Amino acid sequence: MPGTCVIGLQWGDEAKGKLVDLLTEEHDIVVRYQGGANAGHTVVCNGQTWKLSLIPSGILRDGVTCVVTGGVVLDPASVIREMDGLESRGVSMGSKLLLSDRAHVVFPWHIAEDRLLDGSLSGGEAIGTTGRGIGPCYRDKVGRSLAIRLGDLYRPDFRDTLGHIVEVKNRLLAGWASAGHTALAELDAAAIHDDYARHAERLRPHVADTTAFLLDAAEEGKRLLFEGAQGSLLDIDHGTFPFVTSSNSSGVGVASGSGVPGRWVDRVIGVLKAYSTRVGGGPLPTEQSNATGEYLRERGREYGTVTRRPRRCGWFDAVAARYTARLSGVDELSVMLLDVLSGLDEVRICSAYEIDGRRVTQFPSHADDLKRAVPVYETLPGWGEDLSAVRGYDNLPRAARNYLDRIGELLGRPVSIVSVGPDREQTILRDRVGPRDGSAAPPKPWPRHPHPSPANA
Ligand code: IMP
Repeated sequence: MPGTCVIGLQWGDEAKGKLVDLLTEEHDIVVRYQGGANAGHTVVCNGQTWKLSLIPSGILRDGVTCVVTGGVVLDPASVIREMDGLESRGVSMGSKLLLSDRAHVVFPWHIAEDRLLDGSLSGGEAIGTTGRGIGPCYRDKVGRSLAIRLGDLYRPDFRDTLGHIVEVKNRLLAGWASAGHTALAELDAAAIHDDYARHAERLRPHVADTTAFLLDAAEEGKRLLFEGAQGSLLDIDHGTFPFVTSSNSSGVGVASGSGVPGRWVDRVIGVLKAYSTRVGGGPLPTEQSNATGEYLRERGREYGTVTRRPRRCGWFDAVAARYTARLSGVDELSVMLLDVLSGLDEVRICSAYEIDGRRVTQFPSHADDLKRAVPVYETLPGWGEDLSAVRGYDNLPRAARNYLDRIGELLGRPVSIVSVGPDREQTILRDRVGPRDGSAAPPKPWPRHPHPSPANA
């Protein structure tokens, strides 16, 4: 039986957790395939709020297995905190949670590197990372010689490997710290070993070869739900580099992160907020540093789940979202937080950029070009009605429907789900878009306004 992917099409925080929670009912296994404790999911269920980070929100449902795959970077202490938090509220992990033995482990040096290196040494603009050691851990994974995977914590040579790495890291960190004129305490290999050996014992019942587990499950006809973390515009390869996270957070990361080939996925849902937000540095062409931005931030409670940082807010960017909808192979769209826009006299959609006097509908590959992009807006009438109790598409105010229809038109994909509040019930489900069988037409091409990359400008 085929699988479903839920992919954020903006800069993260698109309320994917709520959607995953809703869809979990129709699936046997929920799979988290990239990122780490930088992600935060909020799920509201029967009036109770759950804040999850690495553990998929499927954990709240009986009979669902939650799998954290090898594409994830895993901080054991943080996972254990999450497990404890869930267990203290009556959610038992039992055999419901599997952690890949291939997942790379976040150590204290990764967190120290993250805090030392973000922006300050290169002299450039800070990425504004979550400070959870995500980038440095992925860097060590790709570099290979200083990396430790979850399965390695159980090997007899763990203590020696760790001792060697701590020696190297102490030298590297001292060099970076002195270049940045910062004082830094030395890492203590024995103390780190004891902490991680203790964490490993706690996690032992959950550690598994998740690649084999998922391949068996797919071949047995189990229904898989892949839960993306962050948003496609933060994708390391296809996002607004270098203001991105260090994994493939768009749809392209599903197969590499989980080990499950794309042939097992037949429904890709692109999740969008009804407006734009971004947390951290980097370009956000439609940003509203004014009363509208404030309005969106306060009504949408736009403060980071993990870091509590206020999110930057702006109008819906159809150029960016169309790019990521294509990149992630999206079949249908889920528009979240539509209720936040109530009360605005007019709403705007960016449908092109002006860059250096040229009109562009292709998302630029370089962040500097995107920084110079001036949005070209379509202005639509707003609506005053409170949407939080609306349960049918046809019961939405006409202006809200027009807004959604225009988003669907610009992205070339139907809006099949609309969220009007945090609760499960505050969701409008339209006619299901059938499984991908090759009959869905590709999005109608937009007129091409090529914007050359600086390399061939
Ligand atoms: P990192 O993933 O901690 O390295 O942070 C890199 C960039 O991604 C920063 O701009 C973060 O604010 C952003 N980021 C990371 N995780 C999330 C998320 O879950 N939601 C929104 N932004 C995120």
